[in-house]
Amino acid sequence: MEPQKVELGTVAQLKREGKPITMVTAYDCPTARIVDAAGVDTVLVGDSAANVVLGYPDTIPISMDEMIHHTRAVARGIRRALLIGDMPFMSYNVSTEQAVANAGRFLKEGGAKAVKVEGGGWVAGCVAAMVRAGIPVVGHLGLTPQTAGMLGGYRVQGRTAESAKKILDDALGLQEAGAFMLVLECVPDRLGTLISRQLQIPVIGIGAGSGTDGQVLVFHDLVGIQAGFTPKFVKRYLDAGSQMQQAVESYCREVRQRSFPAAEHSFPISEEEFAALGEALQGEE
Ligand code: KIV
Repeated sequence: MEPQKVELGTVAQLKREGKPITMVTAYDCPTARIVDAAGVDTVLVGDSAANVVLGYPDTIPISMDEMIHHTRAVARGIRRALLIGDMPFMSYNVSTEQAVANAGRFLKEGGAKAVKVEGGGWVAGCVAAMVRAGIPVVGHLGLTPQTAGMLGGYRVQGRTAESAKKILDDALGLQEAGAFMLVLECVPDRLGTLISRQLQIPVIGIGAGSGTDGQVLVFHDLVGIQAGFTPKFVKRYLDAGSQMQQAVESYCREVRQRSFPAAEHSFPISEEEFAALGEALQGEE
């Protein structure tokens, strides 16, 4: 039986009931199957695909075509969760027309049910235009990796009353523009709680404390496949990277020892046929 799909109304309802909403990133079909089967509410094809799986130094270089490619793969693995595609840098920054057209691609070509955009202020205008066009939008405030350079690097945002007020105002602006959900990244926990309480739409935190309406983590951080720097807000639930390395080491060892493949991994041929093959080959000499 097909599970009941998570819709926009479902996350709104979860917020009303005070039930935390879960979000995890995925970039391919097998991962999507895993997180969907685990019961996650929303799956984000983050532009973090750029650094997490494509080897770029940050999220800036990833293109629309690459994001659509990953979103389509993830969509094939999802049965229940709400699928959100992350709009890459410069796919919504040039004009409202460009923003709406690219957002539409995530739904039409990618199979996503919604898109996410980073930033407040002028981005609210894009959000309003996308919503008018029938595209559900998630906002993203606080530390916005696509413009981290403008924010002074990858650092906690909203630590002063003035900057905290700006984030709250931007959040209210995105809600007003029609965003149905907000991701809030790397802000003090009390600000995360305050914004979640002030907004009617669900606020999903990442490094925003436990008082938000939900949480999001990058899948590779959560299961420990990500090498390099681990942000303070990440909790590793598994050390899959080491386990995967050990598995490949065992495979290499067994191939070198000729203990893999064993009989159970091989395909037999009958004695008769093999003897006939030998005779046929001798006849050719
Ligand atoms: O791209 C991403 O993975 C994100 C999440 C960290 C929210 O934007």
